[in-house]
Amino acid sequence: MADIDLPFAALLILHMLGLMLVAAAFLPLVGMLGKGDEPPRTDRLLTRFGHYGIIVLLLTGPLMVWVRYGSYDGLSHWFWLKMALIVCLAGGVVLSAVSARPMREGSTAAAQRVRVGRAIAIVSLLGIVISAVFAFQ
Ligand code: HEM
Repeated sequence: MADIDLPFAALLILHMLGLMLVAAAFLPLVGMLGKGDEPPRTDRLLTRFGHYGIIVLLLTGPLMVWVRYGSYDGLSHWFWLKMALIVCLAGGVVLSAVSARPMREGSTAAAQRVRVGRAIAIVSLLGIVISAVFAFQ
């Protein structure tokens, strides 16, 4: 017990709660990609979950690096892969978010962009979890 790093553990728990919020928002999107002509559905509560989760992750992640490692020097290439995938995740989220309104107004091109954005975001999230595990072995 004595060697538990409490501040770090608290941050990691918050980080995991953030991941749960993002996953809760994302995983149903797999089923909401929409088939054929049917546009993908959106859900405001899930979207809000995802936004809060991303904010929690982006706050607790750098704090953990600071508390445990002191600096970004010496972090492995898996860590930087994780950061690159976070940029991809953000790109996918923004692409589908800005296309949601034109999609609701009937644009089929926008509906396609929502699908592509969601697919990018979901694949990026899986990649982030995998690279996070390898980054801190
Ligand atoms: C969408 C955003 C993010 C997701 C989904 C995510 C996911 C994860 C996961 C699944 C772990 C657990 C890995 C493990 O303990 O083996 C983890 C740990 C960690 N993440 Fe993130 N993360 C995100 C953003 C960030 C950011 C922006 C940073 C820092 C700049 C960061 C830094 C860390 C650190 C330092 C750990 C724990 C290190 C350790 O256990 O020693 N994360 N993250």
